[in-house]
Amino acid sequence: MDKDLVSLAIETSCDETAAAVLLNGRTVLSNVVYTQIDIHKAFGGVVPEVASRNHLEKITQVVEQALKEADVTFKDLNHITVTYGPGLVGALLVGVSYAKGLSYALGCPLVPVNHIEGHIAANYITHPELKPPFVCLIVSGGHTHLVEVTDYHAFHILGRTKDDAAGEAFDKVARTLGLGYPGGPLIDAMAKTGDPLSIDFPKAMLNQENLDFSFSGLKSAVLNYINSCKMKHIELNIPNICASFQHAVVEILKQKAASALAQSGHSTLVLAGGVAANSALREALGTLKDVILYYPPLALCTDNAAMIGSAGYYRWQSQHVADLKLNASPNLKIG
Ligand code: KG4
Ligand code: ZN
Repeated sequence: MDKDLVSLAIETSCDETAAAVLLNGRTVLSNVVYTQIDIHKAFGGVVPEVASRNHLEKITQVVEQALKEADVTFKDLNHITVTYGPGLVGALLVGVSYAKGLSYALGCPLVPVNHIEGHIAANYITHPELKPPFVCLIVSGGHTHLVEVTDYHAFHILGRTKDDAAGEAFDKVARTLGLGYPGGPLIDAMAKTGDPLSIDFPKAMLNQENLDFSFSGLKSAVLNYINSCKMKHIELNIPNICASFQHAVVEILKQKAASALAQSGHSTLVLAGGVAANSALREALGTLKDVILYYPPLALCTDNAAMIGSAGYYRWQSQHVADLKLNASPNLKIG
């Protein structure tokens, strides 16, 4: 039996300042998330410089709280994991600089992690039996990818969005409807009382063989529909618009995920990222025949450091460590 490994993980890629302590990569001892959502709400989206400044203010406190809740000290740490991309450069730099300083001061190895790999690894925490290979649908505010995961750190991209990410489309539609930020949960709730078949919004690239996505056409169609109703003084049926938009997104994601499973020959589908919290998406994917579906609980769908710690554990197992030259990589690709 290997020695138990305690690790600290740090995540600051967007608007959550997060730190977590893990035991052997799959057991979460603490998972502290300070979200800046209320600060960015006033602007209708994340303001990068405001995000960086708030990370800087909160990071020490969030890390201290994670250690305290886990009942460990810096001396107990085997390695430190940090998100180094993709994300907002100024936001990433706060976590990366902090983790480098800590690594140097403690003489503790530094493990760099890709944020998207972290989203996938949220499922390892939730489902102890889950192992690669599988197909993962990663849907967040910044990413929409279909990935074949052949090992803990071996990824083959099957498809990706050509323009907007699914979460970005949710946020923009919600903003135009005046619902607030972030849009996904608000549209999800509003859609529950609407008719998903009331408005036939376009489902781009649905009939194409490839596994890429496009959401900008759908987003524009919804915005045009709203504007044309306003110009004709037709009262907006917000629940119907939300339900029909969400239905279009879910249909695209479901059909592409089904094609990815068929083309790759896998029967396990893993859902990850903030949009994985969407109730209609979970329900629709649950109806796919002969597919074993995994997804994380809501708290592990959106950004957190526990998922980064789990991905870091598998990187650490394969000796993937960084030196003090580690820099933020805002456009980092998976794989
Ligand atoms: O993974 P995440 O926290 O951040 C990124 O890495 O981008 O994802 C945030 C995104 C936002 O666009 C938010 O609107 C969306 O996830 N989201 C949802 C739901 N909850 C969060 N989208 C649809 N339905 C939800 N219930
Ligand atoms: Zn994320």
